[in-house]
Amino acid sequence: MQFKSTYPFYLANQPESPNADLEVTDKYTGKVVTAVAMASPDDIDRAIAKATAATQAMREFAPYERQQVLNHCVARFEERFDELAMSLCVEAGKPIKDSRGEVTRLIDTFRIAAEESVRINGEVINLQISSRARGYHGMVKPLPIGPCSFISPFNFPLNLAAHKVAPAIAAGCPFVLKPASLTPIGALVIGEVLSETDLPEGAFSILPCRREGADLFTTDERLKLLSFTGSQDVGWKLKSKAGKKRVVLELGGNAAVVVDEDADLDDAVSRIIVGAFYQSGQSCIGVQRIIIHQAVYEAFKEKLVAATKELKMGDPKDPETFIGPMISAEEAERLDNWIREGVKAGGKLLCGGKRDGAMLEATLLEDVPTNLDVCAQEAFGPVAVLSRFDSFDQALARVNDSQFGLQAGVFTRDWVKVQQAWDTLEVGGVVIGDVPSWRVDNMPYGGVKESGLGREGVRYAIEHMSEPRLLVMRTPPGE
Ligand code: SIN
Repeated sequence: MQFKSTYPFYLANQPESPNADLEVTDKYTGKVVTAVAMASPDDIDRAIAKATAATQAMREFAPYERQQVLNHCVARFEERFDELAMSLCVEAGKPIKDSRGEVTRLIDTFRIAAEESVRINGEVINLQISSRARGYHGMVKPLPIGPCSFISPFNFPLNLAAHKVAPAIAAGCPFVLKPASLTPIGALVIGEVLSETDLPEGAFSILPCRREGADLFTTDERLKLLSFTGSQDVGWKLKSKAGKKRVVLELGGNAAVVVDEDADLDDAVSRIIVGAFYQSGQSCIGVQRIIIHQAVYEAFKEKLVAATKELKMGDPKDPETFIGPMISAEEAERLDNWIREGVKAGGKLLCGGKRDGAMLEATLLEDVPTNLDVCAQEAFGPVAVLSRFDSFDQALARVNDSQFGLQAGVFTRDWVKVQQAWDTLEVGGVVIGDVPSWRVDNMPYGGVKESGLGREGVRYAIEHMSEPRLLVMRTPPGE
C-alpha cells in the first residue's frame, strides 16, 4: 500500500495542511512512512468555535440526513477496505488478520449508528402519581448534548475513533477529535470520508496535535462532553480538569478468565490464546490473569503452553503472523521488565519472555505474587499469568481482587455458577464460555472501578451524547 506523502488534518470539515510535522512510522520496520499536519492551539480553538457554531445546524440536521451520512461512510469504508486494513497494519503494527477484523468492526459500528440514528426516541411519562398531579402529563425527548470532545487511543485507531464519531453523528452532535499521535492515519481517513458528505459546516474536526495544545480538548467550557479512551492515569487526570462537562472514560484493565473444572479444555485454550495474544495483547480486555481449577490445572497448562509456543511471530503484513510488534520498543521494554520482576519474585516462566526491540514473545508465567505489576497493573502486551483455585467462590474473589473492572470471562457449563458470576463479578460485562476480550460493537462496553465511567457501544454512547428535555402538560379541570 502506498501512503500519501502527507496527510492534512480536518478543521470544520475541510482539509488543512499548514505543516507536515508529525512523522508516522511503520511499527515493524521503524521506517517513516508518511507525515501528518499537526494542529496548533489556535487551530484547536478555531475548531471548537466552529463546532459550537454548528450546534444548532447539527440539531436541525434531520435523522434521515444523519443516516445518509453514516451510510455513505459504510459504503466508502467497504470500497476502501484493503487500503484501511493495510494502513492499520503498518501504522499500528497490527497483524493483517487483526487489521482486517478491525475494518470489519469499523463498518459494523457505522452501520449500527446508521440504524440507531432514526430510532432515537423519547417516552411518555405517567405523572399522575398523586392527587396534586391530576391532569398532568409528561413527555421526554432526547436532544443532542452539544459539541463533544473525543480523544482516541493507538490500539484500535479506526474502531475506537468510530465508537465516538459515529454515535455523535447519529445523536446530532458536532465534535472535535484528537487521534493518537502514534497512529493518526485511520482517523484522518475517516475525516476524508466525512468531508465527502454534506454534514453542516463545523460538524467535525480531526486534529492530531502536540500534548500542549491538547489541553483544550479537556478544559474548554464550550465543549459539553469529553469522551476519552486510553490509560487509567491519563483518564482520571483529564476528568479532574474537565470542569462542568460530562465525562466518559474507557480505561484499562487486567482482565481475568476463570477456567472451571467442567470446561472443555481444548476449546478454552483455543479462545484464551486469542484473548491473551491477539494484536500482541494490546487491548484493554486482553486476558492477563488465567484462574484455573486445580483439578484441571496441569492438563490445561500443558495444552496452553504448547499452543502458545506455536504462535507465529514476525512481520504483521504476513497473513500467517499472529504476534507482531508492540506499539514501541519502550512499551515492550516496560513489559519485559515487569516479566523479569515477576520471575525474580518467584514466578515461573512457562514460555516466551524474549524481546527484540518492540517484538516481545507471547509469554506465560505462573505462581507470580499477585501484588506485582505484571498481575496488578495493566500489562497491555502479550503476557498472561496462570494461577489455581479450589472453589468457585475463591475464583470469583480472585477476579475481583483488582483495581480494575472492565470485563471477565468464565468457562463453565454450570448455570448456577453463571448466575453467581453475573451477580458477583465487579465488572462492566461477564462473558460466559469465552474470554473477557470478546466484544461486538452494539453491546454496552465499559468498566467500573479504575476501568472507567459510562459506556460505549453505539446506543449507549448516544445516550451519553443526549440530554433529556421534559415537557409537562396540564389539562385544566373540566377540559
Ligand atoms: C479496548 O481496548 O478497550 C477495546 C477493545 C475492543 O474494542 O475490542
